[in-house]
Amino acid sequence: MTTTAEANPRLESRSGRFFARYYDAMTQRAEEKWGRPLRTLMFGELTGDILEVGAGSGANLPYFAKADSLVAVEPASEMRRQLHRRAAEVPLDVEVVDAWAENLPLPDDAFDTVVCTLVLCTVTDLPAALSEIRRVLKPGGQLVFFEHVRSPGAVGLMQDVLAPLWKRAAGGCHANRRLLTALRDAGYRVRIHEIVRPWPRYPTNTPYVRGTAVPLPADRDR
Ligand SMILES: C[S@@+](CC[C@H](N)C(=O)[O-])C[C@H]1O[C@@H](n2cnc3c(N)ncnc32)[C@H](O)[C@@H]1O
Repeated sequence: MTTTAEANPRLESRSGRFFARYYDAMTQRAEEKWGRPLRTLMFGELTGDILEVGAGSGANLPYFAKADSLVAVEPASEMRRQLHRRAAEVPLDVEVVDAWAENLPLPDDAFDTVVCTLVLCTVTDLPAALSEIRRVLKPGGQLVFFEHVRSPGAVGLMQDVLAPLWKRAAGGCHANRRLLTALRDAGYRVRIHEIVRPWPRYPTNTPYVRGTAVPLPADRDR
């Protein structure tokens, strides 16, 4: 199934396409240093039906070694082009879907796990995205995430100041997003597995949290 997401001027602008085209090159050093080991740890043992939201160029695809099926949602056309190429290189059948986290053209109760890495800082309507993720998760399913969140203390105050500028410079990324609060407000039980402060450290992107979030049954819309 492939649906066409409404084109987003920001993602499809010249700078958005440039960002997408060179994203892998820009993140290569971080990937080698901590990205790849982290992705192996997070996804190597995942089984069942998996949905990745905001799959980008497909950095996670090689790590879903035990998945039964994988759907990869990505709204940016240049990212999707690379995602298709990566999907052809992995042994798993990957279904690439052109869509937004806020409006997933996917059935209810369809996935054992939803994966988000470095995505929830950017989605425009976070409550809508979290509600959609909850909708498509099977009962007992989980969201597995690795995301940067607003820092406590002085760094957090600095992120508040930098946030508007950073949002424009970094493709809509929110430097000061309170993701864990948003997850709890959306009816998830959150487990933090690790707080990561990789080096070099950018004040806009620290700390990162590796965690899981499970929708609480009472909060499911049924
Ligand atoms: C920083 S990249 C991360 C890509 C990949 N998940 C990774 O770990 O390398 C963020 C991705 O989220 C996508 N994205 C932005 N807004 C989105 C939204 N509302 N719904 C789904 N994906 C979105 C972008 O197009 C981009 O590919």
